[in-house]
Amino acid sequence: MMFKKSMIVPINIFSDPVLSMKAKPLKGVDSSTEELIGNMFESMYNASGIGLAAPQIGSSIRLLVLDISCMDNYRDAKPMVVINPRILAVKGQNAMEEGCLSVPGVMGDVLRPSAINLRYRDEHFEEHTAEFSGMLARVLQHEIDHLDGTLFVDRMDKRDRRKIQKELTEIAEGRVTAEYPLARDLSAVGAKG
Ligand code: NI
Repeated sequence: MMFKKSMIVPINIFSDPVLSMKAKPLKGVDSSTEELIGNMFESMYNASGIGLAAPQIGSSIRLLVLDISCMDNYRDAKPMVVINPRILAVKGQNAMEEGCLSVPGVMGDVLRPSAINLRYRDEHFEEHTAEFSGMLARVLQHEIDHLDGTLFVDRMDKRDRRKIQKELTEIAEGRVTAEYPLARDLSAVGAKG
């Protein structure tokens, strides 16, 4: 996939309100959607991420991108654009450690179905229905959660979540840095700068 004029854009962090909103479905793909998709890939690669959902760069729409080809065993995986995803069925369950570009520096175990049957539209707005398992099922579910206003930390068990509460508070107050640009919710930081 080639996109001209793509830009690295800052990533919204916990607890920006856009990350807890239910995102709106797309009715089609136009040049502004293509530009957004290009910016999402650019920003995701710049942050060494394997997935990014549109709300993470401030667009509350049901669109996500992913590319897991940097991971061992997934070298042949192609970048994916997923629009208006709907999980039709799930199978199995496993725990895996997750992180998120919107929650810098925090990792935690999350229990999720190990395989999903997914209906979605691609970057040409063509509909597909397919089974995903392994890392793809994991990343897809994490990103689809973003479209419903859910973060992986919301799915951690209560005891694990308590252990990272201090880090979450620091992120929410803007006291966090990352090796990629962050969008800070100035209303949350306020006069503290
Ligand atoms: Ni995430």
